[in-house]
Amino acid sequence: MTTPLRPAVPFSYPGIAEDIARLGGLLALGLRTAGWAAPPRAALLNLACGRADETAELLRAACPAAEEVFYLGIDLRPPEIAEARRRWIPAAPSGWQLDFRTGDASRTDRMRELPPFDLVFIRHQNYWHDQPSWIVLFRNALAALKPGGLLAITSYFDREHEQAMACLVQCGGNKIADLRNFQSRDLPDAPGKSVDRRLALFGRA
Ligand SMILES: C[S@@+](CC[C@H](N)C(=O)[O-])C[C@H]1O[C@@H](n2cnc3c(N)ncnc32)[C@H](O)[C@@H]1O
Repeated sequence: MTTPLRPAVPFSYPGIAEDIARLGGLLALGLRTAGWAAPPRAALLNLACGRADETAELLRAACPAAEEVFYLGIDLRPPEIAEARRRWIPAAPSGWQLDFRTGDASRTDRMRELPPFDLVFIRHQNYWHDQPSWIVLFRNALAALKPGGLLAITSYFDREHEQAMACLVQCGGNKIADLRNFQSRDLPDAPGKSVDRRLALFGRA
């Protein structure tokens, strides 16, 4: 599959397509920096994915020509998961299994049927919201990686990003790259915050 996935329903807000196109470029750069080799059979996990608007760009950056893909998004919020399902599940080409589930993304250790993942992605991680849960989420996200797999996070603002990165190192992560998104769109009502402002990539130490 080399053509990008086409969303089966339009994005909910103006500007999303441009934001995720910029994220796609940043992800491609981050993965190149981390020495990523796109796997022919890829397993990707998108934690706290919300609507998972970035699904097509993430898959395009990580495994554009994969024959088989297993891609799972998990979020606590049922309406966002329902929207992700409507947008992306009908778009999947044959051999690509896309799924979105409502659930607690910090408890992947209890989801026995999950395979090990090549890439775990967390867009706009929310470490400041509930640190105890996010420590568990980060620890389990690292544990869900295949040997040589990568965990990628993005953040809205620098302080939360720095603290999330420090937490990931304490959880057994090995920081490989930390990139500033210079095309990041500022959030007008939140000074210092912008969309996918930072991207960091980790392996398992
Ligand atoms: C800042 S939003 C980011 C959403 C989406 N990744 C994005 O960038 O648009 C944080 C998300 O984390 C989800 N979340 C927080 N804790 C969670 C948990 N323990 N399990 C699953 N989702 C969680 C929230 O429901 C919310 O959708």
